[in-house]
Amino acid sequence: MSLQTPRCTAATHVTIIQRGGETGSDPGAFASAVRQGLLANPKTLPWPYFYDEEGSRLFELICQLPEYYLTRTEDALLKAHADAMVAGWERPPALVELGSGSAIKTQRLIEAALRRYGSVHYLPIDVSSTFIEESAESLLRVYPDLRITGHVADYRTELGRVAERLTGPKLVIFLGSSLGNYEPREASALLRQVAWVMGPSDRLLLGTDLDKDRAVLEAAYDDAQGVTARFNLNLLARVNRELGADFDLDAFAHQARYCADLERVEMHLVSLMDQTVTIPASRLTATFSDGESIHTENSYKYTSARLKDLAARAGLEEEHAWTDDQGLFRLQRWKLKGTH
Ligand code: AVJ
Repeated sequence: MSLQTPRCTAATHVTIIQRGGETGSDPGAFASAVRQGLLANPKTLPWPYFYDEEGSRLFELICQLPEYYLTRTEDALLKAHADAMVAGWERPPALVELGSGSAIKTQRLIEAALRRYGSVHYLPIDVSSTFIEESAESLLRVYPDLRITGHVADYRTELGRVAERLTGPKLVIFLGSSLGNYEPREASALLRQVAWVMGPSDRLLLGTDLDKDRAVLEAAYDDAQGVTARFNLNLLARVNRELGADFDLDAFAHQARYCADLERVEMHLVSLMDQTVTIPASRLTATFSDGESIHTENSYKYTSARLKDLAARAGLEEEHAWTDDQGLFRLQRWKLKGTH
């Protein structure tokens, strides 16, 4: 199903394409994902369901936490190097952003591209129609000359369609270490998919968190104010709200564990007692023993060697990389292997 809702006003150009299928817009899919996750051993719940309205609000708060160095470090890199990141084309590249969210950091790139090329076509893809609409509106208030085509869709299915319709060069933007949520095989597959829609004059700008000390990582995912705990527990609250379950949020504890060998931070919800929970919409009664955990998220951390390997597996190679002086975070611009 593809429903197009072009909305062009006299002064601006915004088109929003709704491809349906916001994460969680299908209660049946949520119910069966929860059923599958809680029947698994060890138990899991799928991270894409973090981002309902409350979860997205909490994630925005996480991005401002003192312990969560990722957002401000990436933003500082974007601020310092946006001109170089968008440079190198003769005509303006289209900016295609995967999982654009609030698009606050992207403003740096848009502004740099407008400075350099005079006009810009920005194509954000996000599963949240709220994010797409609100970010388009606020961007246009600041940059009235911007042309925006927002896509409300899963970027994994939408990227091909977006790329197909573009004739000129493009810069695919994937920020915030969003790649880190994917298993290594999934991350490789996603990058291959991006490479597939790239031509010799296209580039990928990828932001990734770097591997580092356990203490720094665990604090970033278990902050003193307990915002990340609320973000994690909101998943259970959402199961209660949408699937009629009776999770007692006080009977589960948020936990962040750094696994050095797997190069990832895991988030868990640990049951604080033996308990039984019913989830009517999933036709499930789940039992939890004291100390048993629900694994809700992985956040992979990368080394430059690992990133080089990821690029190579996707048929890509690094053109340039930017890192802060503490080596916390890395932005890199990749191109098709063997092109100039
Ligand atoms: C959105 C995947 C980049 O892994 O750092 C933040 C999500 N989870 N705190 C991350 C998240 C807990 C975030 N990403």
